Amino acid sequence: MSEDSRPLIAAVLGWPIEHSKSPLIFAHWFAETGIAGSYKRIAVEPGAFAATLDQMIQAGFRGANVTLPHKLTALAAADRASPAAQSIGAANTLVIDPSGEVFADNTDAFGFIESLRAGAPDWRPQAGPALVLGAGGAARAVIHALLDAGVDQVRLANRTLAKAEDLAAHFGARVVPVAWNERSSASAGAGVIVNTTSLGMTGQPPLELTLDNAPGGAVVTDIVYVPLETPLLAAARSHGFVAVDGLGMLLHQARPGFRAWFGRDVAVTPALRHAVLAGA
Ligand code: ATR
Repeated sequence: MSEDSRPLIAAVLGWPIEHSKSPLIFAHWFAETGIAGSYKRIAVEPGAFAATLDQMIQAGFRGANVTLPHKLTALAAADRASPAAQSIGAANTLVIDPSGEVFADNTDAFGFIESLRAGAPDWRPQAGPALVLGAGGAARAVIHALLDAGVDQVRLANRTLAKAEDLAAHFGARVVPVAWNERSSASAGAGVIVNTTSLGMTGQPPLELTLDNAPGGAVVTDIVYVPLETPLLAAARSHGFVAVDGLGMLLHQARPGFRAWFGRDVAVTPALRHAVLAGA
């Protein structure tokens, strides 16, 4: 890759894309590293993904982050894929090599686990089962990350039980579907509790979850980051649990792309958090 003469350009692709925070993250890292790179925001209509990717390859882009609704299409469009992307069934990071070959990765699982470890350094996968709320795309990355980290059992509660059952069938016997109205009792013994639903987001109802059954030392984390302090996290803190907000996952998932495209390791710092929050 040392002979790579392509410009230092990557992008984020989605529809809609105006609200993506990724350009703020990359702008911060360009300033911090002194790398004169460029990170574009590209609106890609549903159906236009493959054509856009071809144009990017021709233009010498080094890769892209991919967000809704293109994460499945991105995996299908790639020549090769990481085990994480294959297991999760979606890609959020594409790396284009100088010959134009496209490698698909999914760094959401990495982002989740890095954020959890940074925010709850005492958490151990052996602390007990995980309770995951929600069974959408984000849940797939979270479940992959927890199993990969060595959590024995993931209890998966979802309003639509059939979707939890589908994910349990996909990931195997370590994932146990839980009916939505059993979610509070399923927190008994849990080492970590993760909200992957949209509940608690600004404009949505809060996630109703009783934490009385959770053991002391449990970690509660949310993938929602608007607001940063969701009602779930506030309740967790008031019960004395360690609470980890959802911004960390967003920031950490961007690190592998920066490394792959621009050749430098970058960190999630308080300054990055402030920059992204200030740009909201
Ligand atoms: P993402 O890809 O971000 O995970 P998603 O695939 O739309 O988004 O999944 C949203 C999740 O939030 C789902 O688990 C959804 O439950 P259903 O599978 O039953 O739809 C959950 N969710 C959304 N609104 C909810 C609500 N009002 N009550 C309970 N769960 C809700």
